[in-house]
Amino acid sequence: MQGNIVLCGFMGSGKTSIGRRLARLLDREFIDLDQYIEEKAGMTVSQIFEKEGEAGFRRREAQAAAEVAPGDGRVIASGGGTVLYPKNVELFHQGGSVILYLDVPLAALQERLKNDKRRPLLQVPDRRQVIARLYRQRCPLYRAAADRIIDAGAPAIVVAKRIAALWQPGQGAAPGGKMS
Ligand code: S3P
Repeated sequence: MQGNIVLCGFMGSGKTSIGRRLARLLDREFIDLDQYIEEKAGMTVSQIFEKEGEAGFRRREAQAAAEVAPGDGRVIASGGGTVLYPKNVELFHQGGSVILYLDVPLAALQERLKNDKRRPLLQVPDRRQVIARLYRQRCPLYRAAADRIIDAGAPAIVVAKRIAALWQPGQGAAPGGKMS
């Protein structure tokens, strides 16, 4: 049993792009939770928010987490809100997953997200402030959920290689220690 590697972190922190590269490096299956939800729903995340509100999306997200958590040997990119819900964190840990928090500074996220047209929570006039507020609220929760904190400001392939190196024999990347 290898357990899953779950990537968590703020919108724009690179969960999907790093996760895809990491899965390739470790020869694992990759699952993007938002994409999984979209495929099951037959709707985009934006359409789900529009039709069912954020609460509807969170129900679908919890269901998706419950479905993928028991799997083994995958790299899973969670959504930016997934691990804010303790039940989801519990499910991942019960399934033997290691949760990694991709830590990116606020200013870098604001820059990366400034032209985003896809994320429902960011389609607001005062986007920079909304990002700053959510970032302050969420960072402590990402840190609390994570088994390890990864400095993720570098390009995706650099971060993916750094994480992959933790999974080399003898590097002891299994859960334990809030290390950066
Ligand atoms: C959300 C992040 C999104 C997506 C949804 C809600 C959030 O995922 O799940 O729009 O609450 O931060 P990404 O972090 O992949 O953008």
